Amino acid sequence: MPPERLAHLKFWFSDYIQPFIHAADAEGQYALRQKQAHTARVGQNIVSIGTSLGLSTSDLRLAEAVALFHDIGRFKQYERFHTFSDRHSINHAALGLRELNRSRAMAGVDRQQQRIIRCAIAHHNAFQVPALLHAPALFFARLIRDADKLDIWHIFADYFQQRQIHQNNTMELNLSEDPSCSKPILKALFHGTMAKLADLKTLNDFKLLQISWVYDLNFKPTFEAVCQRALIEQIAKSFPRDTEIRAAVRIAREFVSKQLE
Ligand SMILES: [Fe+2]
Repeated sequence: MPPERLAHLKFWFSDYIQPFIHAADAEGQYALRQKQAHTARVGQNIVSIGTSLGLSTSDLRLAEAVALFHDIGRFKQYERFHTFSDRHSINHAALGLRELNRSRAMAGVDRQQQRIIRCAIAHHNAFQVPALLHAPALFFARLIRDADKLDIWHIFADYFQQRQIHQNNTMELNLSEDPSCSKPILKALFHGTMAKLADLKTLNDFKLLQISWVYDLNFKPTFEAVCQRALIEQIAKSFPRDTEIRAAVRIAREFVSKQLE
């Protein structure tokens, strides 16, 4: 992707999101500005992972375009449903693709690259990426999933540390404060697999679910970032002293260390 094309997409994106931010209430404005900042940081993450993997500058720009658009559906989602919970509203990836098609934002982008961007967005939030996806799209779908997770960990690590001062129900998906963790969530972690959103009941389930994402990472540079930024440790800090929860976290940390050997 040429540099002027990526620059154009970035201009288009910032024009597109402004009316949503201005129209939202105070909690919505905060949440949407967080999404804007998240998009920028996912862009940095994807470039950093891609650079470590030796991507060409053109592919790095394509990766940046994937990051730029991966959560575009969040803005329309909040406008229509006042939530970021896909379970209680709509799949934000599908909604984002609809918005991109409707606005013809990618009209000037090479056809093959458009397909890669659409495919990566469509699968960025799926439980699993179908292995049958054709190779370039599969690669970029895996890249965005890694880059996105790194930033979601960062956001929640920060959030859980200051939640006593600023609690935000949109961030917490309106989950219960009951300190326990649900059995199916713990079981997934003990098996070294990703926990399922459908099993979420408590806020601590949500933290464990996020930790279980380490079992879905694709690239070594992402594992390195998880370790360097101490992301799991930061999320785990706010857990109660429950031995089962602690064991699940320990297994996840050991898994990450193993990927770096
Ligand atoms: Fe995201």
